[in-house]
This record gives sequence, C-alpha cells and structure tokens, in this order.
Amino acid sequence: MTLQGKTAVITGAASGIGRSMVRRFAAEGATVIGVDIDEAGLAKVAAQMGCAVLVADLTTAEGVAAVAALDIDILCNNAGILDALTPLEDTDDALWDRVLDINLTAPFKLCRAVVPKMVAKGGGVVLNTCSAASLSGGRAGCSYTASKHALLGLTRSIAWYYGARGVRCNAIAPGAIQTKMQMRQPPHEGGMQAYMPYFPTIPPQGKAAEVADVAAFLVSDGARYVNGEVISVDGGWNAY
Ligand SMILES: NC(=O)c1ccc[n+]([C@@H]2O[C@H](COP(=O)([O-])OP(=O)(O)OC[C@H]3O[C@@H](n4cnc5c(N)ncnc54)[C@H](O)[C@@H]3O)[C@@H](O)[C@H]2O)c1
Repeated sequence: MTLQGKTAVITGAASGIGRSMVRRFAAEGATVIGVDIDEAGLAKVAAQMGCAVLVADLTTAEGVAAVAALDIDILCNNAGILDALTPLEDTDDALWDRVLDINLTAPFKLCRAVVPKMVAKGGGVVLNTCSAASLSGGRAGCSYTASKHALLGLTRSIAWYYGARGVRCNAIAPGAIQTKMQMRQPPHEGGMQAYMPYFPTIPPQGKAAEVADVAAFLVSDGARYVNGEVISVDGGWNAY
C-alpha cells in the first residue's frame, strides 16, 4: 500500500483520529494537508509530522472555500463533534444545528465543491468518518446519531453517482476510540443513565491509530474496487 504522489486533505487533523490519519498517510508517502479550527493543535501536528496545515472553521463558507481551493486527490471528512448523548426531547435547535453543521453539512459542502474537480482531473477518493452511530440508534444522542446516519447516506449517494466517473467514496465507522471527543462536554444526565446498562456490551476502547490504519487502506489503490462501503472499526461492537 502506498499513497506516494497523492495529496490528502484531512479535516479534524489537530486531534484524535484525524491526527493519526495525518501520521499514517504521511508514512505511506502522501503529501498531507491537515485542516482544523484548532490553530494551536494544528501547529503541534505540523511541528511533529512536518505536514502542511490550514486553519479553517468548516461551518463557514470561507472555511469550505479555503479547502475547496486546494488540489485534492484524497479528501477525508473527519472533523466532527459529539452531542453529549442528548436525547430527542432535550435537543434544542442550537445543539441540533451545531452538530448537523459540522458532522453533515460541512462534508456535504466540501464534497460538492471538491468531487466535480476530482472528476475533471480523472479521479479521486473521499473517505467520510462516520460512526457506530451511523448504524445503530443506541450509540450516541439524537443529533449525533441523525448526523452520522445521514453522512453514511451522503457517502453512498456520492459513490453511486460518481463511481463510474472515477471517484470512490467510502466511510469508516469507528466504535469507542480513545480521543478527546468524549471529554469535550459533560454528558447529558438522562442520556448517560439510559446508556449505562449497555456499557458492558462495549468492547475495550480502540486507538486512533487503529482507525487510521483502515483509513489508509481505504484511500489507497489497494481498495480500488471498494466503493460506497462502510467499514466498522469498533472491535466487534456492531456485532452485538
Ligand atoms: N472517538 C470516538 O470514539 C469516535 C467514534 C466514532 C466516530 N468518531 C468520529 O471520528 C471523527 C474524529 O473524532 P475524534 O474522536 O478524533 O475527536 P476529536 O475531538 O479528538 O477531534 C475532532 C477534531 O475536529 C475539529 N473540529 C471540530 N469542529 C470543527 C470545525 N467547525 N471546523 C474544523 N475542525 C473542527 C476539532 O477541533 C478536533 O481537532 C469525528 O467525526 C467523530 O464523530 C469518533
């Protein structure tokens, strides 16, 4: 497997799974551009891994335009936020909009801008970071689950429409991975209570590098006949 000669843009690159993707893709020879809203975190990634970086808020038109202006072979829509396990009745408009804006609308707008350019230059690859919550109702709160189900739908739609024109679009569905994501907000009390009986069914937490390994394969030519697929990287959680 090699990504030699490819330019890969990875969103959410300042932390967690995105940062591990930067490391892994660079090790495979890709030219990596890490994108994130977190300027300080990105600076550390650039210093440690020698990649190019772009500070951008992907919920803004300017942020999307800045990324879309790049010449991209591989686009990884990985930036995302959790909803603190908030159930439907306590999901206010602000939470819904924030989660959908970053988890779904940003990948949609980036793909809308980038995929036609990939077609024009003869091909490209998109990889969307979905979630175990793309496949089941009991992995997160209402807005996160809805956003990640919809992101899988976006993935399949792009795969179906653009596969014959040289653009593959797949998804990875991480399970419980050790990153900062869960700690960024305190969990919703009721959501947490509903969730707790099922904790023993969660496999031991995985590492961001284990997700990045699968991502590196999916964006490589080794996966050239894989399109519109979602690969769980969850230690078997989806099998329970
Ligand atoms: N960690 C898990 O258990 C897990 C499980 C399933 C799916 N995921 C998904 O994996 C992806 C990466 O999550 P992670 O666990 O590495 O989380 P993380 O919080 O460590 O990293 C997410 C990154 O996204 C960036 N980001 C957030 N909003 C942004 C915006 N508006 N513009 C640009 N960047 C923005 C953050 O600054 C952060 O660096 C997410 O899409 C998440 O939903 C994570």
